[in-house]
Order: sequence, then C-alpha cells, then structure tokens
Amino acid sequence: MTAARAAAEILHRAAGFRPRVGIVLGSGLGGLADRIGDAIAVSYRDLDGFPVPSVEGHAGRLVMGQLGGQPVACMQGRVHAYEGNGFDALKTAIRALKLAGCDTLVLTCAAGSLRVEVGPGRLMAISDHLNLLGANPLTGPNEDSFGPRFPSMTDAWDPDLRALMRRKALEQNIDLVEGVYAAYPGPSFETPAEVRMLKVLGADAVGMSTVPECIIARHCGLRVAGCAVITNLGVGLGDGPVDHDQTLRAASAAASDLERLLVGFLEGLNEEDGRRP
Ligand code: HPA
Repeated sequence: MTAARAAAEILHRAAGFRPRVGIVLGSGLGGLADRIGDAIAVSYRDLDGFPVPSVEGHAGRLVMGQLGGQPVACMQGRVHAYEGNGFDALKTAIRALKLAGCDTLVLTCAAGSLRVEVGPGRLMAISDHLNLLGANPLTGPNEDSFGPRFPSMTDAWDPDLRALMRRKALEQNIDLVEGVYAAYPGPSFETPAEVRMLKVLGADAVGMSTVPECIIARHCGLRVAGCAVITNLGVGLGDGPVDHDQTLRAASAAASDLERLLVGFLEGLNEEDGRRP
C-alpha cells in the first residue's frame, strides 16, 4: 500500500520523530515551514506516491519538526484538481500523515472573498464547505482500512478546533472571520456571474483547493481545521480582474498574521487536550 510505504519513509527520514499535526500550506503561504525548529525536509519526490506540484509558489516538500510545541509535518506545496492528475497522490499524502501518527490536519489556502466587507489581507476560519469541483476524491472502490464508504461531513471542520482558533485570534489581536469556503474547479478564475451564484449558494469565500484534503482527512478520522487568507475580492466585487501574481503577493502580506495565529493555535492544542474528556 503506497500510503503505508510513504509513512514508513517519513518515519525513517525523521528517526525518532512522530508528527501529531499535519499542515498543508497554500499558495504564497510556505513561509510557516521556515519557522519549524529542528526541521527535516523531505522532497515529495522521495516519498512514494506523493504529489509533485507544478504551480509557482508551491515547493513540494514535507517539512517536519517542532512548531508551537507540537511535532508537525508540514506539506509545503499542494496539488489542485485543475492540474488534472486526479486525487490518488493527495490521498496517499494525507493518509501517510495519518499512518505516521497525525491526528489533526490544518489546512491553509488563499481565497477570494465573496463578502465586500471582508477584504484582502483578512483571515477566515473555515466553518463549512461547498464541494463544487464536480468530483469527490473518494470516488472509486472504498479503502475500508481507512474509513467508511459514506463518511459523514457533519462538522467536517471541527467546531472545537475552530473555537480554539477564535480564542487564539482574540488573544493575539488578529482579526479573524468565519465562513463557508466554496471549492471551484479553476484554473480560470470565476466570472462575475459565477461569483454572484456562489454568494447565493451560501459561500463566503472561493478557492480552488482545500476541500479534497478535508474530505480525505475526515474519511480517515483526522480532525480538520482550516484558515483561508483572503487575497482579493471575488471577481466583479472589486475594482478589476484578479490574477495569480496578485494572489501570491497578497498571501505573503497576510502570511505573518496567519503564521502567528497558527503557532498560537498549535500551542493551544495542548491546553485543549486538557479540556477534552
Ligand atoms: N478565486 C479562486 N481562487 C482564488 C481566488 C479567487 O478569487 N483568490 C485566491 N484563490
């Protein structure tokens, strides 16, 4: 099984280390990995079945070490549905993190805001999602050893983890909103009409990722938290067109808030452990 082989390789490369929290870093948000102490980085190319990203701003390596007092394994670089390679590699990566010891997955991404009052540079904790990719990563024979055929997506985005994120944002004076993330296929940005549709459907932000990771993670029993960095207003809500360079620039500008928030969040996970029965 590929995920098991990749997990074994992860544990072999980082001897004596067992990650507890997996983190996926979105476009332009790779800097968090530089804060990891005693870091060991492994290229995805050296991990059997891991995805090899093709998009600028995505490094394609797993960085392991201590962050906010937690042993973390950070995916610096992700793949997207629009790259057209299916979801097998993504499944392998997330399941390998689970087999290597993770119980929690933190997803980050850049997103366009569908609320004009929530502009570029703001952070949005993901409270729920709309999967509009036209595909589900669990399509195909179910791998029973990882999870059930019909996994629940109620509270897919863990309410307790979100409450912790809210607390840490408040403590650190970071402006955090909450909302529903819609995954749209891309790679073209939305049209203004599509943005209006997404608003009507109940989405607060739109991006091209993150939802497949959440679905795969919930299937295998990982708890999931997510935070989107708003890099632009949805097409048609702001002044002009949206482009990828602008997305990367805005993501880097907001990255320090996101990094502080996530480090606080990781520190808080230990406190939260004490609260759970
Ligand atoms: N649409 C889709 N994906 C995105 C956007 C957007 O406006 N901004 C950042 N990622």
